[in-house]
Amino acid sequence: MINLLIMGKPGAGKGTQATRLLEHYRLSHISTGDIYREEMAKDSDIGKLAKKYISAGNLVPDGVTNDIVKEVLSKQDYPNGFMLDGYPRTEAQAIALDQMLADLGISLTAVINVDVRDEVLLTRMAGRRVCSHCGATYHVTFHPPKKDCVCDLCGHALIQREDDLEESVLNRLRIYNEKTRPLLDYYRTKGLLFVVDGELPKDEVFRVITEKLGD
Ligand code: AP5
Repeated sequence: MINLLIMGKPGAGKGTQATRLLEHYRLSHISTGDIYREEMAKDSDIGKLAKKYISAGNLVPDGVTNDIVKEVLSKQDYPNGFMLDGYPRTEAQAIALDQMLADLGISLTAVINVDVRDEVLLTRMAGRRVCSHCGATYHVTFHPPKKDCVCDLCGHALIQREDDLEESVLNRLRIYNEKTRPLLDYYRTKGLLFVVDGELPKDEVFRVITEKLGD
């Protein structure tokens, strides 16, 4: 059983690597960003609340996010383990997660930090397009779809995330540095942190991670 946490600045490639690692290790995926995007698409109460924060590039309040993760973690069954993606993002969330895992008698196997310079992230996010239906990710220059603005996998329209607009991206980076970066030391102290160079090609990033984790 492998329980992973994947971290990194916005646009570092967490989602890209998570998709491949989930398949490779047959893990369950818990992405708070995906949960919020689903809730926003449904226009639920949580979605309406989240939209106010996410569109400006701000974090959804800790209490709301902690409650969601607690519910998901306690309800799901993880035969091969799980991958937490985009959570925790603040010290309060990390402390809450420690408590949730202790209550469930589960421990983390490793914390992967995908490391990328800010200037690279800005280019990646400006060109990122996501499928409005299945969430598949493309890049207008580095990974374009076969047909303009159409998802290769399901044929639905590709859109630009509202939080990928420049002003929002800069705010997300500022918040990452202030609130999320300190968690690297938190997990380094626990002996769980593994840093991978996220500027390598996607396949190489995946190879380095799986080499570290083993088959
Ligand atoms: P979330 O979805 O978690 O957003 P994020 O952390 O900003 O991450 P992204 O999805 O933007 O990027 P990514 O690292 O997954 O990169 P990707 O693989 O797509 O959260 C969204 C929002 O929800 C947050 O801003 C916040 O408001 C809220 N939220 C979520 N969790 C929360 C929490 N715990 N607490 C409070 N609020 C929360 O890759 C990006 C691009 O780069 C793609 O185009 C891809 O093709 C390309 N790419 C990837 N890898 C490579 C590579 N190796 N080389 C070249 N290109 C690459």
